[in-house]
Amino acid sequence: MGVRNLLNENINNYLTQQAKLDTLRFITCGSVDDGKSTLIGRILFESKMIFEDQIISLKKESKKSGTQNGDFDFALLVDGLAAEREQGITIDVAYRFFTTERRKFIVADTPGHEQYTRNMVTGASNAEVAIILVDARKGVLNQTRRHSIICSTLGIKKVVLAINKMDLVDYSEDIYSKIETEYRKFSQELEFDMITAIPISALSGDNIIDQSTHTHWYKGSTLINYLESIDTRKSLINYPFRLPIQWVNRPNHKFRGFSGTIASGEIKIGQKVKILPSGEEANLKDIILFKDALLKAETGQAVTVTLDREIDASRGDVIVNKEDAPEISDQFEIKIIWMDKNPGYSGRSYLMKLGSSIVNTQITKIRHKIDINNFKKLSTNKLELNDLGIVTIKTDHQVTFEKYKDCPVMGSLILIDRLTNQTVAAGMINFMLRRAKNIHKYKLDINKFDRQSLNGHQSKVLWFTGLSGSGKSTIANALEKELYSRGIRTYVLDGDNIRHGLNKDLGFSDADRIENIRRVSEVAKLMVDAGIFVITAFISPFIAERKMARNMFDNEEFIEVFIDTPIEIAEQRDPKGLYKKARLGKLPNFTGIDSPYEPPESPEILINNTDSQSVEDVVKELVLKIGI
Ligand code: ADX
Repeated sequence: MGVRNLLNENINNYLTQQAKLDTLRFITCGSVDDGKSTLIGRILFESKMIFEDQIISLKKESKKSGTQNGDFDFALLVDGLAAEREQGITIDVAYRFFTTERRKFIVADTPGHEQYTRNMVTGASNAEVAIILVDARKGVLNQTRRHSIICSTLGIKKVVLAINKMDLVDYSEDIYSKIETEYRKFSQELEFDMITAIPISALSGDNIIDQSTHTHWYKGSTLINYLESIDTRKSLINYPFRLPIQWVNRPNHKFRGFSGTIASGEIKIGQKVKILPSGEEANLKDIILFKDALLKAETGQAVTVTLDREIDASRGDVIVNKEDAPEISDQFEIKIIWMDKNPGYSGRSYLMKLGSSIVNTQITKIRHKIDINNFKKLSTNKLELNDLGIVTIKTDHQVTFEKYKDCPVMGSLILIDRLTNQTVAAGMINFMLRRAKNIHKYKLDINKFDRQSLNGHQSKVLWFTGLSGSGKSTIANALEKELYSRGIRTYVLDGDNIRHGLNKDLGFSDADRIENIRRVSEVAKLMVDAGIFVITAFISPFIAERKMARNMFDNEEFIEVFIDTPIEIAEQRDPKGLYKKARLGKLPNFTGIDSPYEPPESPEILINNTDSQSVEDVVKELVLKIGI
């Protein structure tokens, strides 16, 4: 049995025994070779979390891995996975539990490699203290800065600057002080309350539990001492009551309970509550924890509550204190950490998960990203892997929220790519945008259906997509003539034309193409609302934006038409001589050459014979298929 399993097996018993002690959650951050695994191994070892049999197996493994003098290779204790060991890096977040006489600890061990920022964010998200490991020989690195910024962004207020491998620099006070000074200077811009530097050697145990005899110049506490005595983050018990509903519990007709973990505050039976976003009010009837009925409950408890009247609340809604309810909004400014290899763009839409609610959301503006070396604000139109930035977003429903700094559970969110289902970013709400409160929809008396009935036909959007030179404009033009002759009110939105007016500020970078399609979708939506039959002719190269456009319309309103002309044929036609220019390297970012085209997977209509079929025949086929 591996060390990991053994550890896990013992954790539950151990924690139950120690249930009365309070718990400190911390995270260790460091670069690949800073000795993070060794440190965690050392802490676990010193706190006697390793049982005899494990020590034996460790001894064996350490021997195999060539450690001298029967010493343990502490990294073996935590670097359980073979793949990690082969690469010499830790690739996931592992939570480890240990206990001393004074406290229980949960430590998130997160990877040091740049591309694993994702795991570091996960690990840091509920930690109260961060141990930032620095190799005394290397000093403050980019990684150190990045990790510190992430910790600060996620609301960690207390940091231990563990200057490790002091044994390799002869326990030099001078080296230690230089690193400490540099780090303190750098972190002035971060929102830490307290930075504690400790000179350590994880390998030889200096200043981990016992004061090291090698660092007589150091008068501060040892690492464990610090961790045992540090005051943890302010409790959320004093904040108003918030219970995000994780699920509605309805085993029979009589019982309807709402279950979730209390994000902040406390509640008593009989208390007046409000359910958001609907705003309905009720009194709290029962509080149930497992099978026990309670009179009151507080932050962190997972409870089921019932109300004194029937209210239609569902997953994602939040039960709050009536007198002190949070705001709801659909526009926010957030801090964001980009964690995906595909960049994030303004105008692109994602799924957003905040608490237990999931809504569609769009990045409306990337205000700036932050240079981790000097905290300068850099203007950008995209966020790349590991970028930290400030963006504004809008959601398609009102969500109940808190500022992250007030109540992290209700102020933190993740963005999920709709196509890959990957988590692409983590966000922390700074505030809601005031304008969201001050702009209201005005309901007009004449609606889309009135306009359609006056016109005598439905309004739809026929969305052409395909390479440049595929025939989109030609077919759109011919189709419009045909529809016009049948008395249908039409309009063609064509790439080249729109780029002369509305979109003349846009070029052909991915970011600009995304914005191009976002604006065109909005215009098409207005036109469909105006009762017009719209034909759009844009390359629209990305699946994500075509999907976004589709989502803006009712089911049958959006018809995607893929003009699937192979690039060889489009290039032969080359009506504007652009392929030639692109091949000569005179036109960068040309679709199909050095800019991608993502073909639709299941378009409503596929036209793949523009070279063998006449335009008239294609138009006939289209008219038949759209059935107008
Ligand atoms: S899209 O990619 O943003 O949807 P759009 O359809 O508006 O593109 O514009 C494409 C038209 O712009 C092409 O038909 C072509 O005439 C012209 N064009 C100029 N430069 C480029 C380029 N780099 N890539 C593609 N099309 C280009």
